[in-house]
Amino acid sequence: MSAFDTTGLTFRQDYFNDPTAWAALVSLLDDTFGIDIDPLRELGGADPTSMPFGWFTEEGVLAANLSAFAMPFVFNGRLINAAALQSGAVRPPWRGRGLYRDVTRKALAWCEAQSFGVVILYTDKPGLYEPYGFRSLPLHKYIGAAPVPVGSATSRPLQPRDANDLALLQDLLASRTPVSQTLAVASSPAMFLINTQFDPNIRLSYLEESKAAIAWKMAASGHFILLDVVAPEIPSLAAILAGLRVEARSVETLFRPDRLGWSGEAVPYGGETRLMLRGMEEVRLDHPAMLSPMADF
Ligand SMILES: CC(C)(COP(=O)(O)OP(=O)(O)OC[C@H]1O[C@@H](n2cnc3c(N)ncnc32)[C@H](O)[C@@H]1OP(=O)(O)O)[C@@H](O)C(=O)NCCC(=O)NCCS
Repeated sequence: MSAFDTTGLTFRQDYFNDPTAWAALVSLLDDTFGIDIDPLRELGGADPTSMPFGWFTEEGVLAANLSAFAMPFVFNGRLINAAALQSGAVRPPWRGRGLYRDVTRKALAWCEAQSFGVVILYTDKPGLYEPYGFRSLPLHKYIGAAPVPVGSATSRPLQPRDANDLALLQDLLASRTPVSQTLAVASSPAMFLINTQFDPNIRLSYLEESKAAIAWKMAASGHFILLDVVAPEIPSLAAILAGLRVEARSVETLFRPDRLGWSGEAVPYGGETRLMLRGMEEVRLDHPAMLSPMADF
């Protein structure tokens, strides 16, 4: 076990209300992962349940961080009162001093004190979390032939940075039905909103009739990719395709399509990133599934 060395550093938690400390986190995540979470400030702010744990230098540089937040999700039809961990990083000069072990322990202790029986995270380094009892969950998307579009619904593009569209999206996110009964987030609006900013190919449309926000992409040769549906009731895939006016030959859904009136073949999602769970080690998914990438954290 690496020695624990915090020379010149000060521990702080729950620091998101301090703009300088928030800027230090934005910088740490930009330098470590090349992602910019600052736009969250114009998209309703960070998740209000967030509890960041960080070690700061005297100059205010964030050397090490891990954040926890509430992330209730549906698993095999059951609502799980879970917390998620995200924004785990240590700046290179401070690595190997036990700082990550320290913030991991603090974050897990906080989760336990808040009675979150289950903790969930994404990582490309499962070995970091296995010692704490986290186990990987295999992820599957669904692929099949496109259904014939049904209905004459209309849709319009949504722009999360437009104040009216943002308000509409926030209303929909606050009262959404989980997109799948097998595996889906129950809430987590901040993650959905920031994820609209990370991938310029993601299109966001509003189906007026179904009052549904659809996150989707079109790949080459008529391949339609459905990332998420945010609505009080999930419309059928046939209605979604009709409303979007897309001519699709094949469809891929990045969640189990059990509420879409359509089914495809489950295919391993692939990639290096693992979804890991702690506190549900014995439980298996009833069906192959994955969490929508719009819930990525
Ligand atoms: C991974 C990272 C957070 C480790 O930070 P660190 O401060 O060097 O970690 P610590 O010194 O606290 O070591 C914690 C433990 O993790 C282990 N560890 C460190 N890097 C590891 C890696 N890449 N894979 C697996 N285990 C690792 C250490 O051996 C140590 O084990 P121990 O508790 O038995 O001694 C840091 O290298 C980093 O920020 N990397 C880039 C971003 C990243 O990968 N973040 C995590 C993604 S979810």
